[in-house]
Amino acid sequence: MEICVIGAGYVGLVTSLGFAKLGNNVICVDIDINKVVSLNNGIPSIYEEGLEDMLIECLEKKNITFSNNIIEGIEKSNVIFIAVGTPEKNDWDIDMSQVYEVISQISNNILNYRLIVIKSTVPIGTQKKVNKIFLENGVSVDSFDIVSNPEFLREGRALHDFFNGDRIIIGCDSLRAKKIMKELYEPFTCEIIYTSPETAELTKYASNAFLASKISFINEIANLCNKVGADIETVAYAMGLDERISPKFLRAGIGYGGSCFPKDTKALVKIGDKHGIDFKIVRGAIEVNEKQRFIPIRILLNKYGSLEKKIITILGLSFKPKTDDIRDSPSLTIIEELIKNNANIKCYDPIAIDKVRNIYSNIMYCYNLYDAIENSDCIIICTEWDEFNSLNLGKIKDSMNYPMIIDGRNMLDGKKVREKGIEYYSIGKSN
Ligand code: UGA
Repeated sequence: MEICVIGAGYVGLVTSLGFAKLGNNVICVDIDINKVVSLNNGIPSIYEEGLEDMLIECLEKKNITFSNNIIEGIEKSNVIFIAVGTPEKNDWDIDMSQVYEVISQISNNILNYRLIVIKSTVPIGTQKKVNKIFLENGVSVDSFDIVSNPEFLREGRALHDFFNGDRIIIGCDSLRAKKIMKELYEPFTCEIIYTSPETAELTKYASNAFLASKISFINEIANLCNKVGADIETVAYAMGLDERISPKFLRAGIGYGGSCFPKDTKALVKIGDKHGIDFKIVRGAIEVNEKQRFIPIRILLNKYGSLEKKIITILGLSFKPKTDDIRDSPSLTIIEELIKNNANIKCYDPIAIDKVRNIYSNIMYCYNLYDAIENSDCIIICTEWDEFNSLNLGKIKDSMNYPMIIDGRNMLDGKKVREKGIEYYSIGKSN
């Protein structure tokens, strides 16, 4: 098929490459000309495993091209995916300006039938609203269909998730649209659910809010473990053996971050408010998550009283491993609290360091893990990068000013760390 994807962010880029790899011809459109030029030269705008190779492969096969000309994209394609950002506004509402700008451009430029697929996470009722805008802009009913097709991929595993999703959900009222979507998703083996647009739109929010609540739930249990001497790893493992619970998303720590869970949980609460539904569980999940990131600061203040002139090392800056995305990362809240407490900060991350460098000037950025640890009064692990699994504990002990680790992701073996003479704190582990 001839496909246009509008927006070359995480979702748009992965969707473009995924469909190009499957043999479709894709034009991916973005307003950022620098990004377009880099992508056409095979240089990815984000870090994602396997993405660079797939980009180069698809460019060589001429299955994909990047452009900043949206009209060209609309003219050359039968299916148009909208994958632009829907960021959070201050009042927890969603900023839909990018989506509506794109809708205006498409509706003013289509000459014959186009299928418009909304991939961006959008409030419930958006498909209907977009449909109305097309009709109001004089586009005939025969010339378009609008489909809601939310994305479920995870950063760090995005390409894997594109090809191996648990389900594909397609919300549309039109048989014509359903037929095209069926053909487009023909190569996929997972279950495809055809439903109403509202159901599709809500499924996305419900899934993310449920997963976020699961994390906050286990984090509260972990906080209790710390108080009563129970072990969160064993509690989570034993809970997870119950098939109804499942072991996934039961990793306790300093909380979730990223561009999705924080934004989508708040948006769902806001949407509920508009309809007179008070989402108490989701509100609770948000509150627990916001407090969770302060745990390392509390431990430090208990230990040192004042953090003035203490050297604190942050290991891991991205909101999760295998990505350079730092949006709403717990590490940033921790850095800000440390700055307020006049601590000296050193940080290290295998990939995300340059993104943080653009935000804070008065902290020390290290490109070598052991440089970041030298003379430190405490290490805080904020992201469970693989390389932190094989820390040289002896070297750490010798090079720190005071040997202390706060393991915000419960990734180290506490017993081994303590045996080396390093003070160890976790989120609810007894070891
Ligand atoms: C999430 C969803 O998992 C995707 O299905 C969805 O498509 C995506 O949001 C989106 O809406 O676009 P993502 O934010 O990329 O994906 O990453 P996750 O792997 O879900 O992790 C989110 C956060 O939860 C991370 O900060 C992670 O460290 C944290 N987490 C995850 C925990 O603290 N404990 C866990 O057990 C699992």
